[in-house]
Amino acid sequence: MSKIKTTYVCQNCGVVSSKWIGKCNSCNKWNTFVEEIVKEKNNNTAFDTKNTVAKPILISDIIFKKDKRIDTQNIEFNRVLGGGLVPGSIVLIGGEPGIGKSTLALQIAIGLLKQKTLYVSGEESLQQIKLRSERIASQANNCFVLSETLLENIILNIRNINPDIIVIDSIQTIYTKGSESSPGSVSQIRECTTELLRYAKDNAKAVILIGHINKEGNIAGPKVLEHIVDTVLQFEGDRNHVYRILRASKNRFGSTSELGIFEMLNTGLRQISNPSELLLSQNEEAMSGVSVSATIEGIRPFLIEAQALVSTAAYGTPQRTSTGFDLRRLSIMLAVLEKRAGFRLAAKDVFINIAGGIKINDPATDLAVVCSILSSDLNLSIPKNVCFAGEIGLSGEIRPVTRIEQRIIEATKLGFKKIYISKYNKKGVNFSKFKINVIGVSKVEEVFRQLFR
Ligand code: TYD
Ligand code: MG
Repeated sequence: MSKIKTTYVCQNCGVVSSKWIGKCNSCNKWNTFVEEIVKEKNNNTAFDTKNTVAKPILISDIIFKKDKRIDTQNIEFNRVLGGGLVPGSIVLIGGEPGIGKSTLALQIAIGLLKQKTLYVSGEESLQQIKLRSERIASQANNCFVLSETLLENIILNIRNINPDIIVIDSIQTIYTKGSESSPGSVSQIRECTTELLRYAKDNAKAVILIGHINKEGNIAGPKVLEHIVDTVLQFEGDRNHVYRILRASKNRFGSTSELGIFEMLNTGLRQISNPSELLLSQNEEAMSGVSVSATIEGIRPFLIEAQALVSTAAYGTPQRTSTGFDLRRLSIMLAVLEKRAGFRLAAKDVFINIAGGIKINDPATDLAVVCSILSSDLNLSIPKNVCFAGEIGLSGEIRPVTRIEQRIIEATKLGFKKIYISKYNKKGVNFSKFKINVIGVSKVEEVFRQLFR
């Protein structure tokens, strides 16, 4: 009888140690080591599936076949994938609990018209899945469901049904007999994913894996998982709001700068092809503290509303709160306004909100945020047909931003009449073709004077 050997594996980065240690030397995380049982390696390890030995060939001799992608019937999902699912690949969808991963995956599984799909859930019973599918209400009938957690049984069913697309919800709940560790541990996740990858590659099937994320927002389990799969998608959004953003953080078959936007309704996720119209509030009259930014997330332009509320601080220390906009960035903006433009905001509470619960990373939002702060402070509104796109530097200068033409086109499309941009963005571009007044500015004070004079 072989002796049982155990090792300790960091559940964050996958480092192996022979004894338990409190802090991982590799990723510096505390309390991440978990005991795992190692089985004697048998001969059929993960990769020697075929007996034939592959021969290297000249790269110039490779005949390129344009990969036939599977159209998922979901424009936003296709867009993020780079045109659809690639047979023989694994897509990992990560996201916080309750954000809508299962809904998205089921919706795609049900929505496929020509392909056969198998939706495997290790988390929900068949009854629960049925209930969910009824909410989503779809007609197609090519989707099999299975409630199972043992990988060997799952593979057996896959072989019987032979689906084109396999959804596994979630990778943390399934386990294989090949590893003695508990489900969700690094070695289980790795073994199961490698096994599924092998099946997918050998049979040219597409696999969608759902992964939980941990407190830090990374996909739970090791980074190893992210290396194995072909595409990693993050599903994000504020759970209290209805908007969800799907973005790729790794994509072997497309760009990572595409973005999919959805709205969570009680009938499932609705695709949003024109986000600007929803993200701008429909107020008829202009209000103080509101400004519109021509933003780009990934490569997708949309207009979004920045709202600010500035009021005299009731207590000694003024509050600075921000949703959707980086708080540190807000502090910098306030310091710039104070020091470079002479606005007295040190004794004021400042609250910032980006409409729709969307988190914006684009630095071009700076200018709109600053203008909304000034507008709220002065209680003077900014005209409804004005929008902004500019980054603000530490000396109060307005810096150029990327893809300015795309932003201007989007603003024009939505009927804006005036856009403030950095004057350096105006160089070399002919703006007269746009039906919008493009104003180049170089300093915050300049915008201020033009807006609130
Ligand atoms: P779910 O897909 O279960 O999230 P995850 O798999 O990421 O944990 O869905 C989460 C929430 O979505 C749930 O709290 C209820 C809500 N929801 C809707 O608003 N409408 C719907 O049609 C469905 C199916 C869910
Ligand atoms: Mg779920």
